[in-house]
Amino acid sequence: MHSVSSISDSNLFPYLRVQGEIDLSGQIEISGAKNSALVLMAASLLTEEPIHLSNVPKLTDIDVMAKLLSSIGANVNQISNELDIKTNGLSLSQNSLPYELVNALRASFVCIGPLLARFGEVKIPLPGGCRIGARPINEHIRGLRALGATVTFEGENVLAKTTNLRNKLIGTKIRLTCKSVGATETILMASILAEGKTTIENAAREPEIQDLANMLTKMGAKIKGAGTSTIIIEGVDHLKGCIHKVIPDRIEAGTFLIASAITRCPITIFPVIPKHLEAVLIKLQECGCLIKQTENTIKIIPGKTIYAVDITTMPFPGFPTDLQAPFMSLLSTAKGTSKIEETIFEKRMQHVGELQRMGAQIQLHDNIALIQGVNKLFATSLTGGDLRSSAAMVLAGLVAKGTSVIKGLSHLDRGYENFEKKLCNLGANIKRTEVKRPISNRKNTEKLESKMNVGSGSQVA
Ligand code: EPZ
Repeated sequence: MHSVSSISDSNLFPYLRVQGEIDLSGQIEISGAKNSALVLMAASLLTEEPIHLSNVPKLTDIDVMAKLLSSIGANVNQISNELDIKTNGLSLSQNSLPYELVNALRASFVCIGPLLARFGEVKIPLPGGCRIGARPINEHIRGLRALGATVTFEGENVLAKTTNLRNKLIGTKIRLTCKSVGATETILMASILAEGKTTIENAAREPEIQDLANMLTKMGAKIKGAGTSTIIIEGVDHLKGCIHKVIPDRIEAGTFLIASAITRCPITIFPVIPKHLEAVLIKLQECGCLIKQTENTIKIIPGKTIYAVDITTMPFPGFPTDLQAPFMSLLSTAKGTSKIEETIFEKRMQHVGELQRMGAQIQLHDNIALIQGVNKLFATSLTGGDLRSSAAMVLAGLVAKGTSVIKGLSHLDRGYENFEKKLCNLGANIKRTEVKRPISNRKNTEKLESKMNVGSGSQVA
């Protein structure tokens, strides 16, 4: 049985000390994709047979998902990067998921699809809004209703039920009104055991969806078109267990490529699927970086000068919203004026204020940032308000004059496996300190953290 320690120890106040102006060199090994692994864990709920996942990153978000599955009777065991899940112990009566866990990890809401498909009924807490935007679930619900489920809201819970005696969802055609990754995953998983054919139009095309479809296919599902805007699923009666390796994390990979560009030092990353990073590589090349790639490695050789570029975040294959904050750190040091427009999430510009405190020249108009590159950023005390902006702070700290102190690490630890260790292997000087808060200070610090939006319970993924 998986034992998960507390989501984070609120008595510890961890921070990083990042020394700036140090050259990096060498190679970095990229971990498995967090956003794939989380949904693959949810997909394990579709079968009674064992699932073995390899290349699963060790992250607090994975711990929370494991804890969530365990809470409804699954047996989850992670050793290093190998994860075994057995869900034969699940029972219908236990299928109400604990509020604290769904609330701590937004991605856990996708469990609604597989649980409904397997048991014909599920009760799951509403995931709520989060730091980077409201993140509604209307498309998930609309999709499940189209598949024949009744979906009602009871207090803070969503209750979904099939409506026939066979406890089956019924295949249909669903057109998403926005290219939602989560809604595509929910509907895909819900329709696998449905009667007949389901077509998802305007589906999200992210590599994590292709990874999910690949694993489901190994389990016996019949899926065509994953990775395109139209996914067609022929329902099957039963799914079996499988062994599956999680794809490399394209967002972690992109973050390290940006670390190279911001420090103007060449590095190599592996294993990666370069096709997953095309939009990012194009922008790095436009900035003046030379990119050399093989089938599963990317070497980046930044120019001495990084040039301004314009970026608009878009669903895959467009420029990913998850790399918007790290790229803004880079463009803060570019020659000329860049424009970044965030189109996916309405509150994903929280790093702007922190970068400005380092000397970055950024004007923000709603979700459009105009960045006039400066010659130097200056170290200060910084707080990452969400996962990707925490990474952006570390990257800015790598080139700033002086030593930056970076707080809000609960966010960083949700999504980057051994982040500072990997950078230190390239030569960076980053030290993690975890100080125990004196009891008398805890209340004040907690208040301060919640004011600064750096509490440990906030949702990102
Ligand atoms: C996934 O979130 C990722 N999380 C996010 O990763 C990523 O930023 C995001 O996709 C976009 O690429 C996981 O995979 C666990 P969406 P998700 O549904 O699925 C709107 C990270 O840093 N929308 O594709 O929740 C929504 O408001 C993160 O690792 C609706 O309107 O994102 C947003 O504007 C955070 N109705 C847009 O779609 C819905 O029912 C895209 O959201 C659902 C979404």
